[in-house]
Amino acid sequence: MAELIVALDVQTREEAVERVKTIGDAVGFYKIGLELFSAEGPDVVKAVKDLGKKVFLDLKFHDIPRTVERAVKSAAKLGVDLMTIHSAGGRAMIRAAADAAAGFGASAPAILAVTVLTSLDASDLADIGVAGRTPAEQVAALARLAVDSGANGLVCSPKEVGSLSRSLPKGTFFVTPGVRPAGAAVGDQKRVATPADAVRDGATHLVVGRPVLAAPDPALAARDILAEMSAAGA
Ligand code: C5P
Repeated sequence: MAELIVALDVQTREEAVERVKTIGDAVGFYKIGLELFSAEGPDVVKAVKDLGKKVFLDLKFHDIPRTVERAVKSAAKLGVDLMTIHSAGGRAMIRAAADAAAGFGASAPAILAVTVLTSLDASDLADIGVAGRTPAEQVAALARLAVDSGANGLVCSPKEVGSLSRSLPKGTFFVTPGVRPAGAAVGDQKRVATPADAVRDGATHLVVGRPVLAAPDPALAARDILAEMSAAGA
């Protein structure tokens, strides 16, 4: 069964706690990203954990292996369940993150690797020295590197999830943002998929922000997405 993760894209701990309480039992997993973490720090992670929820800490670590290893340990001590690193940090950095997490045994966070940010196109890749590969080829190469180096899964766009889930080992997590229920506002997302399509393509976790947070009844919006996921065979 794929899981729904609601992106807590708010600015304060109070707002975050209020949203989680409003949504209630409908959702058990929340993403805390750079905006909220930079404002509120580890306290907001603890507050969401104290409400009995799982936390996806999306800080996209990218540094030398020793620094990433120590940062993963710090995040694991907070009890986070999923967290992100950049595959472009290389094999040793990914391995350091995976080993640091594994040291926490049953409470280890799963390490997800980001491949190519969806904001980058072919000319951006050329600017940073990635020539001779399309963005899709670079995504596939970095995804393989990440999984071979011990990452538990990948953050991938709805456009990528089908081919990645077919080519990578069973048990790999595929965490997919850019999900919009039919009829929902697309906002600034360019390539979207419905919850049902993402699940059918192999997504194991869907990250949804505004379609839940901005809904008149966020709990109902979340339940509708979960029903669509379940009908698609999640
Ligand atoms: O509101 P919305 O559903 O678009 O939120 C999606 C969440 O997933 C946001 O927190 C956004 O930063 C994140 N995300 C994304 N696209 C990516 C990576 C992360 O939308 N490629």
